[in-house]
Amino acid sequence: MLGSKRVLLGITGGIAAYKTTFLTRLLIKAGAEVRIVMTDSAGQFVSPLTLATLSKNPVLKDFVREEEGETDWNNHVELGLWADLMLVAPATANTLSKMASGTCDNLLLACYMSAKCPVFFAPAMDLDMYRHPATKTAIETLEGFGNILIPAASGELASGLEGEGRMAEPEDILAAITTWFARQQPWTGKNVLITAGPTYEPIDPVRFIGNHSSGRMGFELAEAAAALGARVVLVTGPTHLQPRDPGITCIRVGTAQQMLEEASAHFDQADIVIGAAAVSDYRPRVAAPEKIKKGEDTRSLELVRNPDIIQTLAARKSGQFVVGFALETENELEHAQSKLKRKGLDAIVLNSLKDPGAGFGGDTNKITFIDKNSQIKPFALKSKAEAARDILHEIQIRIGN
Ligand code: PMT
Repeated sequence: MLGSKRVLLGITGGIAAYKTTFLTRLLIKAGAEVRIVMTDSAGQFVSPLTLATLSKNPVLKDFVREEEGETDWNNHVELGLWADLMLVAPATANTLSKMASGTCDNLLLACYMSAKCPVFFAPAMDLDMYRHPATKTAIETLEGFGNILIPAASGELASGLEGEGRMAEPEDILAAITTWFARQQPWTGKNVLITAGPTYEPIDPVRFIGNHSSGRMGFELAEAAAALGARVVLVTGPTHLQPRDPGITCIRVGTAQQMLEEASAHFDQADIVIGAAAVSDYRPRVAAPEKIKKGEDTRSLELVRNPDIIQTLAARKSGQFVVGFALETENELEHAQSKLKRKGLDAIVLNSLKDPGAGFGGDTNKITFIDKNSQIKPFALKSKAEAARDILHEIQIRIGN
């Protein structure tokens, strides 16, 4: 239900903290990867050891930790960026008020302030505290920030009072999160085909013609499409990367010819096709069956043209939205636009090796999205994950629903 979503669970100090052991188990059973950050007082209600065992990750409380005599830093910015969602449960009146005012005096609050992902919060407190105008104002403020309230339920409270203030049950919290994510998935039912990575064209059993593509751009596109709810087939050349989302079908190939065969086999079912692979335009006419021995001072290699995969697929279009990439080093816009036309694409994503941080390897890219109506949208240098989301957003605008 949660795919391989990365959940940062923030636990604050209330009796409902004991329920987070069940909540952690439910999140993990739903497929999430869970990391936990708790306040000092939460640690008095529930054991960090129990939660670390259930989540299979150390529980973090402090900005620094001592390990085997070494002092280490729990990086809140890294944790905030790591998470696909942050859930503060239980959220006490104290923590709600601090979140709303931007107070940042513990690791949990620093993670909250650093999180770029959706933040859910499940209040838990006594009836009168829940009703207090200060609490109501804090909740409204947080909702105004775009945080998502999982309302407290009514029932018997730890104080013995009856009324609103009980933290929602773990099953209800999980349901609120999964329902929210399902609504955020406009590509549910869509099939997306992506090519990634380099191709290796063998010269002999030990050598090949290849390039510097790491596959990262294509893999991030696959993750982003899966996060939108699509069924994703990723045909990748040689790379050490693994898809994080277990729902992604990853087909590994070596040569351009093999990439074409696999992509062709999945083309008819696809609604959206994205060619992020750096395909070798040529291959040796013959791959020697045995290792070529050293000999003359010079040697020539006869090369023949490889099929153009994205162009071959685009020629068979029956409703698919087909997007290529253009990796350029000069006259970038002009070359990209002419590739878009020549290959019969609906859009092309330009990245230039002249832009620092763009193109091969690395975690970042600087892209320009160009469609067949010559609409040109440049983007700033971003992580490849963010660039992937930008590309899918541009596609979404053009395909509608
Ligand atoms: O993998 P990374 O390290 O993250 O790097 C990402 C990237 C730089 C490889 C990626 O962003 C990118 O630009 N991919 C396309 C690289 C490329 O080969 O560009 P091109 O301009 O040569 O090709 C244009 C388009 O035709 C591309 O969609 C390419 O996949 C496709 N093509 C090219 C040749 C061929 N024989 N078949 C193809 O399908």
